[in-house]
Amino acid sequence: MSDLLADYRDETLGCTRCPLAASRTQVVFGSGDPRAELMFVGEAPGFHEDQNGIPFVGQAGKLLERLLDGIGLTRTDVYIANVIKCRPPGNRDPHPEEIEACESHLFRQIELIRPTLVATLGNFATKLLSGKPAGITRVHGVEQQVVLGGNAVTLYPLFHPAAALYTPSMQKVLEQDFARIPELLGREARSSESQGTLTTPASAQALEPAHAPAVQLGLF
Ligand code: URA
Repeated sequence: MSDLLADYRDETLGCTRCPLAASRTQVVFGSGDPRAELMFVGEAPGFHEDQNGIPFVGQAGKLLERLLDGIGLTRTDVYIANVIKCRPPGNRDPHPEEIEACESHLFRQIELIRPTLVATLGNFATKLLSGKPAGITRVHGVEQQVVLGGNAVTLYPLFHPAAALYTPSMQKVLEQDFARIPELLGREARSSESQGTLTTPASAQALEPAHAPAVQLGLF
């Protein structure tokens, strides 16, 4: 981990900005390559993540690893984090004030890692990082140009693997959207098998300015 990211991680481990500090086992900061070109942002740690301190180690994480494998990557090639760093009790949705309290941790992570492509998994990450209220069903698979952590970034919304786990049709779309990641990274796809059939046109939008807090934007 780069020194600055490691230092920032150490700072966050004792975070008490929101009431989730009282119920969590530990802060789940993020994991992977601190210089990754590709970063994934999920929603919040679940039971297994809270126990292990690593994002996406449960069933949704297994699916994410399979999807990465399909495009020739492993989780050590990318960086994986969440919108909020502590498990909401019973895996309920994050509350707006929890997101507001935690979002600067994510923005600082992005600033330090400087990914060129940020894949948001599900509604919470997509709405926060796009700064727009459009839901994942509308915007998945369509890249957007945004500024995050002071850098121009391609944002690529995807269905959340946990949602796709039990819905084969959604999993199929997630696979197809995933298959465009090599192209978005400016790389050749590994094989023709990893190229999806979905040909969603790119909708290049104007660069977004730095984000106002999600709650002010009325996103959640
Ligand atoms: N779901 C998430 O959004 N994040 C995790 O870390 C695990 C499951």
